[in-house]
This record gives sequence, structure tokens and C-alpha cells, in this order.
Amino acid sequence: PVLVVDFGAQYAQLIARRVREAQVYSEIVPHTASTQDILAKDPRAIILSGGPSSVYADGAPRLDPALLEAGVPVLGLCYGFQAMAAALDGTVSPTGVREYGATRLEAVDAASELLHEQDIDQNVWMSHGDSVTEAPSGFSVVATSSASPVAAFEDPDKHLYGVQWHPEVGHSDRGQEVLENFLYQGAGIAPEWTTGSVIDEQVARVREQIGEGTAICGLSGGVDSAVAAALVQKAIGDRLTCVYVDHGLMRLNESEQIEKAFGESTGGAKLVVVDTEEQFLTALEGVTDPEQKRKIIGREFIRTFERAQADILRERGVIEGEGSQAHTSAEGGTKTFLVQGTLYPDVVESGGGEGAANIKSHHNVGGLPDDLSFELVEPLRTLFKDEVRAVGAELGLPDGIVWRQPFPGPGLGIRIIGEVTRERLDVLRRADAIAREEMKAAGLDREIWQCPVVLLADVRSVGVQGDGRTYGHPIMLRPVTSDDAMTADWAKLPYEVLGRISTRITNEVAEVNRVAVDITSKPPGTIEWE
Ligand code: XMP
Repeated sequence: PVLVVDFGAQYAQLIARRVREAQVYSEIVPHTASTQDILAKDPRAIILSGGPSSVYADGAPRLDPALLEAGVPVLGLCYGFQAMAAALDGTVSPTGVREYGATRLEAVDAASELLHEQDIDQNVWMSHGDSVTEAPSGFSVVATSSASPVAAFEDPDKHLYGVQWHPEVGHSDRGQEVLENFLYQGAGIAPEWTTGSVIDEQVARVREQIGEGTAICGLSGGVDSAVAAALVQKAIGDRLTCVYVDHGLMRLNESEQIEKAFGESTGGAKLVVVDTEEQFLTALEGVTDPEQKRKIIGREFIRTFERAQADILRERGVIEGEGSQAHTSAEGGTKTFLVQGTLYPDVVESGGGEGAANIKSHHNVGGLPDDLSFELVEPLRTLFKDEVRAVGAELGLPDGIVWRQPFPGPGLGIRIIGEVTRERLDVLRRADAIAREEMKAAGLDREIWQCPVVLLADVRSVGVQGDGRTYGHPIMLRPVTSDDAMTADWAKLPYEVLGRISTRITNEVAEVNRVAVDITSKPPGTIEWE
């Protein structure tokens, strides 16, 4: 892989994505990784990310000069660029001049390998206080700006390169070219990492991991679990069983759609649908506290999933007996795996740990034997969300699944403010279906991140519909734009679309006499109301 050394801040993931956009596989390693560990990964090239520190600050992350002498091509960006200069014999000085934002270069050497045929007619995105004032010996300075006497340098013979700016951000006009020049020319890597190669590789890995074993996958209806299941299905065929827990908190016709789309697209993967509406609604009776709702839904979900698992394993002869008498059968000894749609950002954020964790099932609630543990299969753990979508599309999953907007596991249970009842779910489902239909018709599906539709079930207001007074409930629309759901902005939906949604909901859903739009960003508001 190409390794991106993460010097902090938020840049490393973006760099890794840009490298992958150049069709070269990349992974992120923390700056605390030793040179030995980094080289043990046999990197084809290394990119040093930006970071918030000053290279001379106490406790600033250091760059081991040995990493620059290993013969591996290196590109330093921003902090990484300064760290390179400091690790060699260059000079980094606090010049007192900050460059921030879109900046113009003063000179560019078009003969440079890194900045091949580039000139000053471009914006580069800068964010730094210190500057490299002298390049290390053997390096040529290939760009300058008013605050950076050395804005880019290179030593092509040693395959070492660096730029002060952030080529990975969209505001650097020719940034992707800089990265590609480094990867293709500087490091001599061919662009071969494609969706097709990812599928082949993951299918081979899954086959190797599971061997003759069997696997179970919980489907949520979202893109991640669906793509993970489709990959595993491609690898081991009908030794995979998918379980979909229909908890009665889904939107209108959603369960049927998921069932149908999944069955069609994976060439008839085995799918067990467990209808547990009664069980969930009973468990939620009288509950209004959001956290309590979430806990109850989570608990019932695990119980149901494990019951389904146990049934499947019993059917296959992997376990025998019921409840506390259950035990692993002597004959059914082949291993059972649990498929999960874990994505790369989760892996990076949890420390980038290697290898599949062995999770013990919750035997106390599921009636599974103590000695049965599952090994995780996570075929998406190297991928970003947009890559997962591309894989899903290539595997033939329908658009409705590939481009499905995020929908929370607890479903409509956390979109009814107040107690969850069958009647209220029915009201919310009808209103939500109208809102989604209108947004889809207006072509807004991919523009907005998601739009929770919320029923304020304990709030009533007076209205007039037809000739009569009404005393109904408000519906709250919560359309947001976002990149990762960590932060979000309220989406400025066109007034005509909002108007149509409002008119239709108040006309067609008798229990609702008011429609409001939530115009709060996140933070301070969360995307969901509960
Ligand atoms: P919040 O409300 O925290 O939501 O801003 C962020 C994103 O996460 C989704 N969400 C959930 N997804 N289980 C899920 O699978 C949950 O319990 C859950 N709660 C919130 C939410 O829809 C948004 O995309």
C-alpha cells in the first residue's frame, strides 16, 4: 500500500481517499508507528500528512530521518513537508507570517517532476505559521510564495518530495495532479486499484477466512450490511444466511422493498425475515425517554437476532438442545462466522487495530451455548463509504440500496416524540412517505444527506380543516446536508417542494394539521430528534 502517516488534524483520511481516487490503494498509520513497523508493511510510497503542531514545539511529532533513507518514495504535505526539512538539514523558521486559505504562488518550476507543467496561475490551499526557509542539501526549490521562500522542494534521485500546501483539499486547484505526479512518476506506481480489483481481492480473502465454515449476517437495510452480505455471498454462496429483523419501526413498505431488492440482487441469497412488531411494541409500551427507547430497541434486537442465529445453527446441526441445555454439537464442528459492515473510518478511529476481533455472543439472552464464539468477517473494513457504494453498484445491488440515505437502527421509534404506539407509527409512516415521495420527485435524493420526518405526538395545536376545528399534531421535517453525519447543516429545500409536502401531508393525513421545518445545524442540534 501507499501509507499515509497521520500527523494529527483531519487530513489523513482525505489524503488516503485522494490516493484511492488516483486508483492506488492507501492506508493510514499513526505518526507514533515506528519506522520498523512502517517499513514492515512494505509501503510502495509514503505520504506525510499535515498536522496542527509546529515542528519546534515541545512534544511535536517527530519524523525519523531513517524513514527518508529507506529508499521508499516520500511526499511531505504541510506539517509533513516541514518535518522532512527538519529531519534532514533544511531550516524551518517561525517567520511570523501566517499563510491561510487560498494562496497564490510566486514562482513555479515547470520542469519539476512534482509540479510538472504547472505555473503560478492556480490557487493552493495553505494553513501554516512556520515556513521552510532553506531546503535540505541536494533538494531543489520548485515553488515559492510570498510567505514561503520554499513552498515546494524535491530530490527526484532520492524520490523525496514536499509541498507546503494541502494538495488533498478541493481548494487547491491542481492538487490531485500533484498527488498523481508523485504516485505515478515519483514512486512509479501504476493506477490499478479499481472497484473490480477490490471485489476480487475481498472475495478471495473471505473464501480463505471462512473456508468450509458458514456465516450469518444481520441486514439492516442500509448499504453497508447489504454490500458486505453480497460480497460474502459471492464468496461462499448459500453457506451465508442473512437475517433481517423486522421490528415494526420501519417506514412504509420498507421491509418488503429491502427483502425484494436484496433477494433479487444477490441471486437469491438466503434471507430469514423475523417479524417482531408485536414484541417490540409491547416492550416499548409507556416509554417516552429517548435513551430508554434506544436501550429497549437495542436489547430486543439482539435477542431476536440471537434467537434467529440459534435456529439457523440448530438447523445446520452446529448446536444441539435448547436454552440453557444448548451445547455445540460434536459433528457440527465447522466454524460459524458473523459478517459485519464495518467501514474504514471506524477502523481508523478506533486505533486502526489489525485482525478480526473475536466476539463472544450474548449467550445469556440468546440461548446460545457458552463455548460458541463467532469470528468476525468484515469485508469492507478497508473501504470508505463512497467506495462501498461503488462496490455495491458493481455487484449489481439496486440503486435503492446503493444510494439509500442513512436511517437509524431504532427506526421510527426515535422519530415519534412521546410514546410509540401502532396508531402513531401509522400516522408518521403516511406523512413520511409523502415527504420522501416529493423530495424524490424533485430530484433531491442525493443532494440531501437525509431528512428525518418527526411526529411530535404529545404536542397538539388547533387548526381548521374544511369547515371544522381540528386539534391535531405537528410533523417536523429535518432535512440536512452533511458529509459524515458528525456535523450537518439544515438543507435549504426549495419553497415549492416544502409547500407541496406541507399541503399534501395536511390534506392526506387527517391527524396532522401543521408541518414545520427544523432549521438547526449540528451542532447544536443532532440530526435525529431523539
Ligand atoms: P445524530 O442524531 O446523532 O445522528 O446527529 C447521526 C447519524 O446517525 C444516525 N443514527 C443512528 N444510526 N443507529 C443507527 O444505525 C442509531 O441508533 C442511530 N441514531 C442516529 C442518524 O440517522 C444520522 O445519520
